[in-house]
Amino acid sequence: MEVDHAIETRRSVGRVKQDPVPRELVEKVLESAVHAPNHKITEPWRFHVFTGKGRGDLARARAELAKIQAEAEGEEEELAAGRISRERKKAFRAPVVIAVISRGGRDEVETLENYAACAAAVQNMQLTAHALGLATIWRTGPVAYHPYMRDFFGLEDGDRIVAYLYLGYPDVGERPRRREPASSRTVWHEG
Ligand SMILES: Cc1cc2nc3c(=O)[nH]c(=O)nc-3n(C[C@H](O)[C@H](O)[C@H](O)COP(=O)(O)O)c2cc1C
Repeated sequence: MEVDHAIETRRSVGRVKQDPVPRELVEKVLESAVHAPNHKITEPWRFHVFTGKGRGDLARARAELAKIQAEAEGEEEELAAGRISRERKKAFRAPVVIAVISRGGRDEVETLENYAACAAAVQNMQLTAHALGLATIWRTGPVAYHPYMRDFFGLEDGDRIVAYLYLGYPDVGERPRRREPASSRTVWHEG
């Protein structure tokens, strides 16, 4: 697939089949990530791949996070149980979930740029997956930002959970994309 075609036709797809994704395809997606630009070649990306029964690790963490949140909000027991159950199930929405983590840098700027590099890496992954006939969605939310999840991954200061990339074979047709043209967001400085 030509790169411009891949860029134009990629869509975030939340509904994927449970059919397993061959490991070599997941590895291709991961390899594409490390070709992203990164300042000072810090190679700041780290990946955790949850697949098959391994998604249970993420499910347990999500459930524990939901429990902590429900307790913090003083949520009534029955409601909390529903919330915990829903959060647990979210880990199984796709056959593969890849957590992309950005390592902190030696100073604030490097940390910022490491995060930027990881965002570029995620886009590489999404485009590569798309070219392989796979669908992805980049997800965040409390599961990306709550201290409990930082502990779960053993993160250090400056490290960030950039994305949970859900990966699988698409279960829905193409959706149209709504974007304003770049020209409406561009100022040209010309001679
Ligand atoms: C940093 C970031 C976080 C995102 N988090 C979520 C999320 O938590 N849930 C979700 O459904 N989509 C999430 N998305 C995906 C966007 O919703 C999606 O890219 C947007 O709707 C545009 O659709 P497209 O990717 O098909 O162009 C996220 C995207 C980015 C870049």
